[in-house]
Parts: sequence; C-alpha cells; structure tokens
Amino acid sequence: MSSTPEQRIALLRQSINQHNYHYYVLDDARVPDAEYDRLMRELQALESEHPLLISADSPTQRVGAEPLAAFKQVQHELPMLSLDNAFNADDMREFEKRLLSRLDEPQALSYVCEPKLDGIAISLLYKDGVLQRGATRGDGNVGEDITHNVRTIASIPLKLVGDDYPAILEVRGEIYMPKRSFEAYNERALAADEKPFANPRNAAAGTLRQLDPKIAAQRHLEMCCYGYGLITDSDGQPLQIADKHSEILKQCQRWGFRINPEMRVVSGVAACLEYHDYLLAKRPELSYDIDGIVFKVDDVELQKQLGFVSRAPRWAIAHKFPAEEEITRLLGVDFQVGRTGAITPVARLEPVFVGGVTVSNATLHNRDEIARLDVRINDTVIVRRAGDVIPKVVKVVLERRPDDASLIVFPESCPVCESPIERVEGEAISRCTGAAICGAQVKESIKHFASRKAMDVDGLGDKLVEQLVDEGLIKSVADLYTLEVEKLCTLERMAEKSANNLVAALEASKQTTFAKFLFSLGIREVGEATASNLAQHYGNLSALQQADVESLLSVADVGPVGAQHVYDFFHAPHSQELLESLQACGITWPDIKVKSEAELPLKGLTYVVTGSLETMDRSDAKQRLQDLGAKVAGSVSKKTHCVVAGPGAGSKLAKAQELGVEILDEKMFLSLLAQYQQ
Ligand code: IVH
Repeated sequence: MSSTPEQRIALLRQSINQHNYHYYVLDDARVPDAEYDRLMRELQALESEHPLLISADSPTQRVGAEPLAAFKQVQHELPMLSLDNAFNADDMREFEKRLLSRLDEPQALSYVCEPKLDGIAISLLYKDGVLQRGATRGDGNVGEDITHNVRTIASIPLKLVGDDYPAILEVRGEIYMPKRSFEAYNERALAADEKPFANPRNAAAGTLRQLDPKIAAQRHLEMCCYGYGLITDSDGQPLQIADKHSEILKQCQRWGFRINPEMRVVSGVAACLEYHDYLLAKRPELSYDIDGIVFKVDDVELQKQLGFVSRAPRWAIAHKFPAEEEITRLLGVDFQVGRTGAITPVARLEPVFVGGVTVSNATLHNRDEIARLDVRINDTVIVRRAGDVIPKVVKVVLERRPDDASLIVFPESCPVCESPIERVEGEAISRCTGAAICGAQVKESIKHFASRKAMDVDGLGDKLVEQLVDEGLIKSVADLYTLEVEKLCTLERMAEKSANNLVAALEASKQTTFAKFLFSLGIREVGEATASNLAQHYGNLSALQQADVESLLSVADVGPVGAQHVYDFFHAPHSQELLESLQACGITWPDIKVKSEAELPLKGLTYVVTGSLETMDRSDAKQRLQDLGAKVAGSVSKKTHCVVAGPGAGSKLAKAQELGVEILDEKMFLSLLAQYQQ
C-alpha cells in the first residue's frame, strides 16, 4: 500500500534522524553518504510540495531564514556553575580529603573523568522532545539566546531520539570547533585575505556570536554533552533519571547527544591521577582542544550531600593542564637561514612557561605573517605551544603596545652570506640566493645529509658539522668522505677515539638504500615518503635522472612543483658533479625491482582519503593505495577518481559529492583492497 505524503515525510525524518544519530553521536555511520543525501533530497522535495507539513524539528530546517537583529537574553532556570581548579597531584589529594571530611561515612569514592573541552558552555532546552532554545552561559544566571546558531550544529538533535524522554530536559555541554575544521577555516580565511582565528575556542565563540545562522552552518562546530540542568515531568515535578552521573550521561547519549568517548569511571584519587597522565599524553592526538580534566563524584546522592560553595559544586574539580598559550614580550627577531635558503624570522622572547616547557624562541613563519600579526619589537604577544609543535606567536596584545615598539625590518640580503634574498612570485617564503656559497645552507644540508633518516652517520651531530665547516675541513657533503683521523684530531675537543669512530661511521654509512640516498640529497619537496616513492617507481638512479616532468608527475605524492624541483635538480651541472663524487666515494645501494603493471592495478588513478577509518589510520590507507600504484592527493579536484571517506569527513567529501566523484566508505574500501589481496 502506498503511503501518504505525511507518512512518507514522517518516515524520512525518522530515518534521517537515525542516520544522524549513528554518524554524529555514535561515530558509526550506517549508510553511505550518497544514500543519506538521497533521503534528504526526497524530504526537501516533499516538504516544498507540501509546505504545510514543514515543522521546526524537521532535519531540513537547520538553517533559519533571516539573520537576527540582536541577541535575546535568557534567564537560566538553574544557574550554570563554574568549577574549582586543581593544578597538581597535591591539589587533587586535597580535593579528595575535603570530600571525605564532609561525608558522614568513610568510603571509596567513584569519580567520572571527562576531558575538559576548550569551547563554549551551552544549555539546550527540550520540551516534549523538541529543541526549544540554546543559550550561552553568560554570567551563569543570564545568558544569550543562540538557538538560531545551535540549530545548525549537526551533532545537536532537533528532536530527541526514542519516546521515553522527560517533558522538560535541559542538557548542558560544550560547543567547540574540531582542530581540523579550525585549521581548514584559517587556511580559507588567509587565502581570502580575511582575519584568521587565534585558536579553536575563539573560532567557536566567534561563530556562535554571529546573528546570521548561515555563517554557523558553513563552519563545522560540534557539541558534546557533559551535564544537565532542569529535568521535569509534565506536571513540572523534578525528575531524577538515574542515580549516577555517568548513567545520566549515557541516557543523554540514547536521547541523541554526543558524549565524550574518553569518559571513564574510576575509584579513588590515585586512579584520577593515572587518568590525568593518560589523557595528557593523548592530548596532541585528540581531534579537539582540551585544557584539562573534570573529575566529578559519580553518585548523585553524594553530590547532593556535598552541595555547592559560592558558584561551584564541591563534588567536582577541573584539573588544569599546563596552558598552551601564554603571554610574554618580544625582545627581538633573528632571521634563520634553512637548508634550501628559506629565511625564517624567529621571535626572541622573554622566557615563559607554556605547554609544559620554558620557551624563549618562537617562529614567526615568514614576511606575510609578520605583516598579518602586525607584530613589533617590544610588543606583548601571545605564544602558543601545543604538543610537540614548534612554538609560535599567534597574536599581539595591541592594548599593551609600548611607545617604543619598533617595526621589524625584513632583511634584503642574507644575514649569513650577504647574497640577495629573493621571493618567488606567489610563494610565501623568501630565500637566500647564495646556495653553495652560503655557509648556513651548506651547514644545514650537511646536517640533513648525515641525519638518521638520511645517510645516518652515527655521531655526526649538528655541533660537529658546524665545527667542521667553520674550521674549513669540509665545504660540501662529498668532503665528509675525505675526512681523516689525523685532520679530525686537530679540532677542539676531538679525541682520537671519537675521530676513529666518526671515520668508521662515515664508512658504514656508504652502504645505504636508494630511498635514503635520495632523501639525503635535500631536493626541495622531496621528503622521506616522496624519496621512497621515487625509489620504488624508478628502481635505480639513472632511470630517475632520465625522467621527464610528465613521468615524475605519475609518481605517488609528486605534484607539479615537486616534479619540477626533482627535474631541475638532476639537470643542474653541480648536481651531476655531486652525484658522481658521492658515488666515487663508494656510496652504494641495491637497485630495486620495479613493480610490473599487473602489480599496480590502480596506476594512473588519483585517490583522496578523508575522515577517520576504523580499521587503519589514514596514513596506512594511503600507503596501501600507493602500493597498488594509485596516487594519493590531499585535496579533491576534477582530477580525483575516487574518495575514501570515513566518519568525520567534511569539506572534501562535500566537494566530491559536488563534482560527482566516486565515494567509497570503509567497507567498500576494504573490499577494494581485498580484491587485490592487499
Ligand atoms: S562541568 C557544575 N564538564 O569548563 C559543573 N565543564 O571551568 C559545570 N567544561 O563552564 C561544568 N568540559 O564550559 C564540565 N566535561 C566538562 C567540561 C566542562 C568543559 C567547561 C565548561 C565550564 C567550565 C568550568
């Protein structure tokens, strides 16, 4: 029996909401995106044919029509509280002691451990299962109504899942911008000459502050639930939905909210400290910024007994991580010359403790970045150090600019060899043109040549390379192999034993692999992976030397710029000399058997991998495609043949859909690999 439009609409909404739930809340997509899009298009078509059937909780109604004129104020039904902080293990032990001293009976306490998301606190109010209002925390009593923006966030249900929800449900949590979306946003902003955000938190706050919901709809925000406010039945009577905080969160997940997969319940403060160490180590890998951990007593009854002190609950604490951003002063700027002549301005800072270490240098990237930040010497600046990433200056505190702040002058000539500095049209980087006559470039290329992933000369560290060049013992990488024990012993602090060891290490380094040798040459755009792909593709040096740009372009990971650099390198007269002298020194490697066409079934095809895969990480997926001969690109274009998309895929997937590129979900991708028995 065929259904009425009304029934069909209800069915479509139900399945779209189900798919959303699996995708955004459980991270477990149930249908390929193409199928989801078909359902959405069918619903849109039916709703436009029958406008009277449109309801505010329909998944088509995420972006409201008109921008607001101003934000409305919202009085929170129950105040939104803040948290007391702990900064070390002693503070945490004090916290537990305080709890135990307040409880009637001595007991082992269970805590819920949750990442402290660095975003914007939010309250979401549902009446009879339908989203009514989204509001910011504001001062805890009065916030701002941002319903129009909240509705655009895909991980926030417009309608709750199931039918066992209370009449009134207020869910609380954090809205944040994932790191990858933040980076993508900033890349686009910079390309369009717009102002980037200093960090993901500012990006989330700036987005939610927009009056026009279309802006939030274009940016990728997410919401994670960590608590609740008012919950009542239809008579307005307060309801307790479970007796453990962790169980309440799990119930919220069943109703359609994302909860943090890192949430754990542990017993006692020692286990809390273990969780702290675990999450601190995991922090750089997480797809979102966190600034600590929130520990909460799990038992709701005990929470009630413990109560509140001023604006914070006694039963919870935020154990803060070392800040990733700090404020300090810019003392000066040095210009460093890299291996390829790239000039990097390096900020000399008043030392500051940030991201767990003391930082006194930070990168300013390039000339454009100095202009964009409008940074001057003596300015007060914000430095950021996240994980192992090189510290960088992200912002100037303009209000604190002193009268004697002076402009940073980018040099016209190399600070090391005085050759002119050149900037290629369209490139951000300025370079010293001195090449082999530039002491800095020579030193850096020798350091690179000797490094572990290149020729791996044991014991030849950066300091020793500088000493060898400064003392005139070597001028190029080939000179390394002419070093003799006697000469080395003339160096300060070089004993005979160390000199012998170095000569032996140089001798041992001569037996290498083709890939390592290629990488050691320091050709621009040829990193470790590209060197390995070139080696696999050509098998031996003379085949690579004869390759033209077109042939180079068919190698995995090699784009037009890289292909040109490789071609230019092998056609420059000094490179020929260098290669000959290195081989004359006795450097050898076994040639590689080049794979036959039959072993490369995906040859000539370009793939893009996006989102996260369950059975392997993206770099493995990329390697396996490359092993089958495919080229794996970083962005989707008309030249892309196929996109492998896992959950969390965003703009690349959208682009593929727009261009009609074939899309594989993980299951389909695995069967493709199985087909070729990978
Ligand atoms: S609970 C009554 N849990 O931290 C307790 N807060 O410093 C209220 N935050 O304003 C907060 N992640 O914006 C809680 N898992 C988490 C959190 C979290 C981030 C933020 C929240 C709050 C601030 C308090």
